[in-house]
Amino acid sequence: MVDLSSHLFLLSLSLHCCFIACLAANTKNITTDQSALLAFKSLITSDPYDVLANNWSTSSSVCNWVGVTCDERHGRVHSLILLNMCLRGTVSPNLGNLSFLVILDLKNNSFGGQLPTELFRLRRLKILHISYNEFEGGIPAALGDLSQLEYLYLGVNNFSGFISQSIGNLHQLKELGIGRNKMSGPIPQTILNMSSLEHINLAVNYFSGTRTF
Ligand SMILES: *[C@@H]1O[C@H](CO)[C@@H](O)[C@H](O)[C@H]1NC(C)=O
Ligand SMILES: *[C@@H]1O[C@H](CO)[C@@H](O)[C@H](O)[C@H]1NC(C)=O
Ligand SMILES: *[C@@H]1O[C@H](CO)[C@@H](O)[C@H](O)[C@H]1NC(C)=O
Ligand SMILES: *[C@@H]1O[C@H](CO)[C@@H](O)[C@H](O)[C@H]1NC(C)=O
Ligand SMILES: *[C@@H]1O[C@H](CO)[C@@H](O)[C@H](O)[C@H]1NC(C)=O
Ligand SMILES: *[C@@H]1O[C@H](CO)[C@@H](O)[C@H](O)[C@H]1NC(C)=O
Repeated sequence: MVDLSSHLFLLSLSLHCCFIACLAANTKNITTDQSALLAFKSLITSDPYDVLANNWSTSSSVCNWVGVTCDERHGRVHSLILLNMCLRGTVSPNLGNLSFLVILDLKNNSFGGQLPTELFRLRRLKILHISYNEFEGGIPAALGDLSQLEYLYLGVNNFSGFISQSIGNLHQLKELGIGRNKMSGPIPQTILNMSSLEHINLAVNYFSGTRTF
């Protein structure tokens, strides 16, 4: 007779080992956050006030870097706030590895290029503030994946294309700013489903279609 219990034991043992190995391979930690921020820094081509140049050094913890805060519970990067610093460059896709990021505020710099789609993996994000920059290209449909988002400011950039229907998935969103861009097409009806929305600014774009609200 086959000893079922020993088979089960071996099976659970191997599952357990895989679990630990897989976890080690997939788990991000503060080292991941550091490399994400260094990748972000490496794509900044101009930093006239030398904000990051000397301060973002591997000789101190990222949690002590200017503009960075960590949360006590996970010891991971919680916010990245670098507004009004005249930074120029593009945004590294590696920022998408800051898996505990809640606040990303790059307001009023000269970041350009397209928003990397990896940013839309930041499922804990509550505040995304990137107005007053030089971003261009479309706002990806993956925006709707940021289900915790409460404040979204994309105004005064060069974003173009349509607003995705998926924006209606942002049920926590309180404020939406897309004013002064080059957005076009109809404003999606799904906006009516955003029950938390208190403030919306879509002014100075090329929207068209019938007004439904
Ligand atoms: C982070 O994880 C990597 C492996 O994924 C490991 O080598 C490294 O020591 C870890 N760092 C910390 C600070 O836990
Ligand atoms: C970086 O800036 C922060 C905040 O201004 C400061 O507390 C920290 O000591 C600085 N670190 C270095 C290495 O200069
Ligand atoms: C942008 O930042 C600069 C300083 O770097 C400041 O002079 C300017 O008033 C800011 N503009 C906005 C719209 O916040
Ligand atoms: C972080 O993100 C980049 C690009 O999205 C990726 O290539 C890299 O391997 C990721 N992981 C780590 C641990 O840095
Ligand atoms: C948008 O693009 C136009 C034309 O390329 C440029 O003149 C303008 O400065 C850009 N605006 C922003 C906010 O990036
Ligand atoms: C609003 O949400 C409800 C329930 O999730 C869905 O059935 C409906 O189609 C949505 N309406 C619009 C305009 O997206």
